[in-house]
Amino acid sequence: MEQIAKGVWKISYGVPEEHTPVSMRKSKICFDGLEQVGKTANETIPDFIGQLTCQIRRRGVTITYPMDSDEDIYGFGLQLLSMNYAGRRRYTKVNSDPRMDTGESHAPVPFYISTAGYGLFVDTYRYVTFSMGTNARKGASAQKKEVNQPHEEFSESALYALKKSNETRQVLIDIPSAEGIDIYVFAGDIMEVVQRYNLFSGGGCLPPMWGLGIWYRAYGGCDGESIVRLADSFREDHMPIDVIGIEPGWHSHSYACTFDWSYLFPEPGAMLKSLQEKDFHVNLWEHAFVYPAAEIYDSLQDYSGDCEVWNGLVPDLSLSGAQLVFKKWHQEHLMEKGVTGFKLDECDNSDFNPSNWSFPDASQFPSGMDGEQMHSAIGVLYQQMMEQAFREENIRTLSQVRSSGALAAPLPFVLYSDLYQHEEFIRGIATAPFSGLLWSPEVRDCVNGEDLLRRIQTVCFSTQALINSWRIPSPPWKQTNIEKNLAGIEIEEAKYYTDTCRRIFELRMSLLPYLYSAFVEYYKNGIPPIRPLCMEYPHDLQVRNIDDQYFFGKDMMVCPITMAQKGEREAYLPEGKWYDLFSGEEIMGGKWFHIRADVEKIPVYVRDGAVVPFAEPVQCVREDTVFHMHVRHYGKKAGSFVLYEDDFTSYDYEVNGFRKIQILVDETGRKSILGIEVCKKYLF
Ligand code: GAL
Repeated sequence: MEQIAKGVWKISYGVPEEHTPVSMRKSKICFDGLEQVGKTANETIPDFIGQLTCQIRRRGVTITYPMDSDEDIYGFGLQLLSMNYAGRRRYTKVNSDPRMDTGESHAPVPFYISTAGYGLFVDTYRYVTFSMGTNARKGASAQKKEVNQPHEEFSESALYALKKSNETRQVLIDIPSAEGIDIYVFAGDIMEVVQRYNLFSGGGCLPPMWGLGIWYRAYGGCDGESIVRLADSFREDHMPIDVIGIEPGWHSHSYACTFDWSYLFPEPGAMLKSLQEKDFHVNLWEHAFVYPAAEIYDSLQDYSGDCEVWNGLVPDLSLSGAQLVFKKWHQEHLMEKGVTGFKLDECDNSDFNPSNWSFPDASQFPSGMDGEQMHSAIGVLYQQMMEQAFREENIRTLSQVRSSGALAAPLPFVLYSDLYQHEEFIRGIATAPFSGLLWSPEVRDCVNGEDLLRRIQTVCFSTQALINSWRIPSPPWKQTNIEKNLAGIEIEEAKYYTDTCRRIFELRMSLLPYLYSAFVEYYKNGIPPIRPLCMEYPHDLQVRNIDDQYFFGKDMMVCPITMAQKGEREAYLPEGKWYDLFSGEEIMGGKWFHIRADVEKIPVYVRDGAVVPFAEPVQCVREDTVFHMHVRHYGKKAGSFVLYEDDFTSYDYEVNGFRKIQILVDETGRKSILGIEVCKKYLF
């Protein structure tokens, strides 16, 4: 065992595999940040470490240790179907459409957090089975001979009551194929463990300010002219939009990709210039499978795996040769023309699509990785390469990705999915932050107007406010129904929905500086900008299973409502006073409430003493944007807030740091603002 940093230990068994998340990492551990986490100067080693056993057999590596009966377990990456895994099993296989709650996901991560004061990361690309409270070791129940519990009744419920026996629980981690493994242990309560894992990963990413604005992905059938017309219509309608996404139709061949413009975009340079002049950022859809007609095809031959996907090469993105070819093409042909982000699609895997979808687990790559390892790695390798491409130009991106994995916190990519249950999408907001991931509950077509407004509200209180209209030609606020949208029929209330969506977008825009500060905390201290309640209140047993409420930034707690809930739901407010974000109404916490919410309002509650800076909403974030701010103080307690300023677009903050404005409010409500003279982008 080796101490890596304060509160972080590494334990090695046998001979670990060559390719693992740690061996392939690009970001450095944030030792300075790790020094700041936690209350004590020197964190003690979590007790369970003394009870770990490891066996290395033909099957692979098995790690076991006893588990407390009251331990709750979180993590394992993006999980849409549940949040607490005490007494459950998780299987960390990449799968874009898991039908059951097995742990499979777009972004499974072999890392979990226990409420017993630790987190554990298994450094592997293998599909691991974690049994979090499973069968006891042989012999553990031998004393039952003496204390026999005979059946007194043979009803189903009586039989099953005995089945839920009080065996000593244990954790069993099954890592097939490996002949050795490194595991990393993080000490602390839930928040501290998450901070330590994120800082060990390299610290949270910091998106450019424009990336926090509203995103709109245009219809897949759009050509260059219709994209420009759409952009014009947003500005005419005063719809705040920062990013326009262009879907597969821009490639001359998209499954697999050519990374070159199709006949629909005869003058891509002019289109990009026109969008830039209107202050839009452009994000292009792609995936990593390379079609024979692509110019980079020949150069990638020797760097690709032994199977094709959709007639294309599967580049081994762990190799610097493959990365160079890929990066150079993107930099010269797309980024230098003004493209500021990409949507890295299809890099996950699926068990339910046709079998030529993605590469088999048994495939081989020139680096020596097999298909199983590559499935776990490719999402992160792809992100690392594209982030590097932007970094070399000193341009920050916020982009999208459909698969991610371990140690991904420093990567400025947001996950999305083709699954579309609103309730599951809300759960994703709560579960992704346990494992250093960002998630967008994107909005597409909707069942009706209420569904649209409720989803738009949720997405505006998430990392990335994304409207993905790739299947619908008109924005969903003009027609929610996909068939009617395709037929060009507008809903009668299009004006009402346009105006209401605009108001919700404007609320999001007014919170941009507030959210940016939360991301600076992510970057510096590893605190996720959006997080579940149990990270904030680890000692409140009521919040342990709440996966439909979450914190947005420093002090706001969001309780989204889905259409299925018909405007009402139960919500829990932890101990203390809370205030309605909009009306300022005071509510005493420490209990459950039945709340109702008008279709135009998402319930958001703010902590006592919270200081919230609101900006006058802008249409989009430009280089010369100045945010005109006003500050609201909620409740009676003294409070503070720090706004961070840099150029909002480059990596210069890594060297120069930030300028800060500290807003202080005392118990009498008197505000003072420190540091304002050096800040140019905020005005009060
Ligand atoms: C899907 C993706 C969608 C859309 C579509 C285009 O894989 O999830 O958002 O981009 O591809 O073909």
